Amino acid sequence: DSAGVALTAPGMERVAVRKKAGRLANLVQDIERDPMPDATVGIGHTRWATNGVPNDTNAHPHTSRDGKVAIIHNGIIENASQLRLDLQTEGYRFVSETDTEVAAKLLGKISDKIIEETGKPDLFKAVRRLARMLEGAFTILATDVRQPDIVVGARHDSPLVVGLGEGENFLGSDVAAFVAYTKRAMEIDQDQAVMVSADKVVVSDFMGNIVPDPKTYTVDWDASAAEKGGWDSFMDKEIHEDPAAVQRTLLGRLDENGNINLDEVRIDEHDFKAIDKIIVIACGTAAYAGMVAKYAIEHWVRIPVEVELAHEFRYRDPILTPRTLVVAISQSGETMDTLMALRHAREQGSKVLAICNTQGASIPRESDAVLYTHAGPEVAVASTKAFVAQITAAYVLGLYLAQVKGAMYRDEIAQTLESLKDMPRKIQWVLDTQTKTVQEAAEQMVDAKSFLFLGRHVGYPVAMEGALKLKEIAYVHSEAYPAGELKHGPISLIEEETLVVALATVEKLFDKTMANVREDKARGAHVLGVTTEDFAGEIEKYADRSLIVPKAHPLLQPSLTVIPLQAFAYYIALARGCDVDMPRNLAKSVTVE
Ligand code: G6P
Repeated sequence: DSAGVALTAPGMERVAVRKKAGRLANLVQDIERDPMPDATVGIGHTRWATNGVPNDTNAHPHTSRDGKVAIIHNGIIENASQLRLDLQTEGYRFVSETDTEVAAKLLGKISDKIIEETGKPDLFKAVRRLARMLEGAFTILATDVRQPDIVVGARHDSPLVVGLGEGENFLGSDVAAFVAYTKRAMEIDQDQAVMVSADKVVVSDFMGNIVPDPKTYTVDWDASAAEKGGWDSFMDKEIHEDPAAVQRTLLGRLDENGNINLDEVRIDEHDFKAIDKIIVIACGTAAYAGMVAKYAIEHWVRIPVEVELAHEFRYRDPILTPRTLVVAISQSGETMDTLMALRHAREQGSKVLAICNTQGASIPRESDAVLYTHAGPEVAVASTKAFVAQITAAYVLGLYLAQVKGAMYRDEIAQTLESLKDMPRKIQWVLDTQTKTVQEAAEQMVDAKSFLFLGRHVGYPVAMEGALKLKEIAYVHSEAYPAGELKHGPISLIEEETLVVALATVEKLFDKTMANVREDKARGAHVLGVTTEDFAGEIEKYADRSLIVPKAHPLLQPSLTVIPLQAFAYYIALARGCDVDMPRNLAKSVTVE
């Protein structure tokens, strides 16, 4: 909702700051019109308003009283009001409503104090002192004109990662921020501070004890993957990467002995065998992937699987034992709600396995085992390829558990894996053959005020994902219901021209779903049906328009059913003139609770 930068170079009196409300493009244009000075270091921030409305003043960076120090901040400082009052009694004035400005003024004060004490500036020390005084969640980056060769960062609960370049270094909330410049990254742990110059990176704890050997790793993303290439939007590009996302997530999962491999496992097989319950924690799209997982894992492994939104789970006193496996699903690996929920689960003695798309992110780092989805960087806010990769990873996990617990025969597992390996081809078929029909349907339905998505069995979580996609990027009211529930309430919403998207890809429930469709049609609804090839002729009798997906193993069907729904939301949003990649009010990675 606003963005800003602060630049520092030798000889500057004050940090050069420029900030603008609105899209990043506003700031870029402003700087192009009126260029900023050359600099040796810089910090930049895009804001998602928490404290104070989105305007130029509240945008970051914020500066110290003398303008020599500037900071950017991610998170919420919970003791900001008290700190502000203390500073106000000392005569400090504030121009913004933000908690960040409080931290900036305080950092200025601390920096002056250090100069007084030691005769020279020490931003690294100042930031550590500041970090010890702040409560709440924060990542802070700071620059000081008196030390124009360094940037200093500190983190508590919010994410921070270093990118190691040649003669240049980077700091970002996640690797996607700098993967175009370097693929080498360094982890910054909880309650650590870092000082970065062009050729050096020093990490310490908040007391100043140097961390001798911070962990580094190489990001396996192709740098060009974070660019739009020839596509009109990231979302369109990422939908077309659905087949590759599934394929890469499956790569190398099966060894020559037929055993399934996870990426990082700090849980021994004995503990896996003892698991008697799974709780999936996640938010948004990732939670719907969890719901798909429930159907498959309960069927294959025969243990109960609960799915819970991470923010609800955390504050509800859930029943957790050492035999409970908590599965945290997250594309970014930084969703604060999910991170807090997994910490709670581990405190209670449960093991946590992360399904995550971002190497080295907080969630996989704090988990006992990790299964990476190798979908590549997902840039569009609305998740698409990460969803199909997440369900694929969940299937692999289900089959792995079935294997260690002896719940399925080996050949049955092998057969299911074979069907999984065929998914990329089938997804590609949907993209190749259905896109035109989806686009036409979307254009016809573009003015609809409201959509009702219906599905049964594994089609139900897919219906929820389809409805969420529309809400997120096209700003249309849409709801999802299990089709059987319609008669218990939502049918009263149906009137002439209500738009119903009916998912009938679960074969054994086709007739029941069609009965629900007839009930809707009888009340004037306009129906878009989705079914498998075998029922293509059948569905035409009931639905006004239909979309076809290939037939697959019933529990794997969601990987196919969701594809036309992603495309449908995309085309509706496009026709409504929405910014499909950056929908209003949403953030890709939500690092506040
Ligand atoms: C945000 C995004 C959603 C995403 C959710 C979970 O709300 O806008 O698209 O599904 O976070 O994100 P995660 O990174 O944990 O999968």
